[in-house]
Amino acid sequence: MSIADLGYSLHEWDIDALDEDDLQAIVDLSNEIRAETEPRHTDLTADEFRMFVDTPGQIRRRFVVRSDADRPVALLGTHYADDGSNPQRLRVTMTVAPRHRRRGIGTRLLDQAAGIARDLGRSTLTGEVSDTVAAGGAFLSAVGGKGTLDHHLSSLEIADLDRDLLQQWVDQGPGRAPGYSVHVFDGNFPEEYLDGLAHLYLVLERDMPTPDGQEPREWTPELVHRFMEHFLQGTEALTATAIHDESGQAAGMSQLVRRTADPGTWIVTTTMVDPVHRGHGLGKWVKGAVNLEALDRWTDGEYQETGNAVTNDAMLGINQAMGFEREYTMTEVELGVDQAEKYLASRNP
Ligand SMILES: CC(C)(COP(=O)(O)OP(=O)(O)OC[C@H]1O[C@@H](n2cnc3c(N)ncnc32)[C@H](O)[C@@H]1OP(=O)(O)O)[C@@H](O)C(=O)NCCC(=O)NCCS
Repeated sequence: MSIADLGYSLHEWDIDALDEDDLQAIVDLSNEIRAETEPRHTDLTADEFRMFVDTPGQIRRRFVVRSDADRPVALLGTHYADDGSNPQRLRVTMTVAPRHRRRGIGTRLLDQAAGIARDLGRSTLTGEVSDTVAAGGAFLSAVGGKGTLDHHLSSLEIADLDRDLLQQWVDQGPGRAPGYSVHVFDGNFPEEYLDGLAHLYLVLERDMPTPDGQEPREWTPELVHRFMEHFLQGTEALTATAIHDESGQAAGMSQLVRRTADPGTWIVTTTMVDPVHRGHGLGKWVKGAVNLEALDRWTDGEYQETGNAVTNDAMLGINQAMGFEREYTMTEVELGVDQAEKYLASRNP
C-alpha cells in the first residue's frame, strides 16, 4: 500500500527553499511532537528549528507527509556524517502526529528510509526512542529493531545548586592538579585552543559509552569552530577549559549553553577530560568553574539539563553530587535494513 492509498502525500523538502508559512507549519508539528517527548519542552522558533536541524558536518535528506487538507502530519529525516565515518549506518528520525498514528504512515516512512539506506549501500538504520512516548518503543518492537544504549535525561533546579560544593571543586583544583589552569570564556573558542579542543571532541566520541560498532567522527579545528559559530546563532555559551600549562594543550572542558528564546534553561553540552590528564579532579574543576560563572552571569536561570549514558559512572557521579535527577530515558535503537525489508514485505505481501 502506498502513502497515497492511505490518503496522504510524501514530499522531500529543502529548508532553504521553503516559504515562511510552510516552514512554520513544519515547526509547529515538530513542537507538538517534542512537547510529547520532553517534560519541560518550550517551543522552538523557526530560526531555532533551522539551527538545530541543520548542524554542520552531516549529509541530510528531509521529508514531510501531508494530509489531504495539505497540513504536515509526519516528518522523516535521514543523515550521515560527511567524513566517511560509520559507513554502514544511516541515522533516521521519524515522527507522526499523534492523531495520525496507527494508520501505516510510520511503515511507509520506514520503507522510504530503508530505500535510502539501500541506495547508499548502508546496512543499519539507527535512531532513538523515548520512554515518555510508548508508541516509539511499540513500533520498534513491531518492526524487529532493538535498543542498544539507554541515556538518562536529568535536570536540577538552579535554586538548588550548591555554590559551596562548586567553589570547593574549584578551590581544590590547583592542589589536586598542579601544572594546570582553568579559563572560562563566552562565545566561540579562542583560536589558540582549537587544535586541543578538536582532539577533545574526538576523545569524547571515542571514550563515552556508545552503541557497539559506532565510531567517532573526525573533528578538525575548522569543524569545531564552525560548529560553535552555527549554534551561537541562537544560543549563548560559557566554556571552562583546563589547560596543561607546560604544553599549552587543552586537557578538558565543560560547557553550558542557553537558548536565546529560553534563557531560564541551561543545557550541558559536553564535559570531558582527556584520559592522559584524568584522575586529578579536572572534571570537577571545570564543572565547578563553568557553573559558578553561569550563576554570576545568567541570573535568571531556572533549570539545568544534561544527558548521560547509564553506563557512564564517572559523569553520573559528578552529576549526582550536583543534584541532577533523572526525568526520562532515551534509548538508542537500531534496525538492520534486511530486517526492515522483511517487516515491510510482511505488511505488503
Ligand atoms: C513510531 C511512530 C513513528 C510510528 O508511526 P505510525 O504511523 O503510528 O506507525 P504504523 O501505523 O505504520 O505502525 C506500524 C506497526 O507498529 C506497531 N505499533 C505502532 N504504534 C503502536 C502502539 N502505540 N502500540 C502498539 N503497537 C504499535 C503496530 O504493530 C503497527 O501495526 P498495526 O497498527 O497494524 O498493529 C509514531 O508512533 C511516532 O511518531 N512516535 C514518536 C516518535 C518516535 O518515537 N520515533 C522513533 C521511532 S523508531
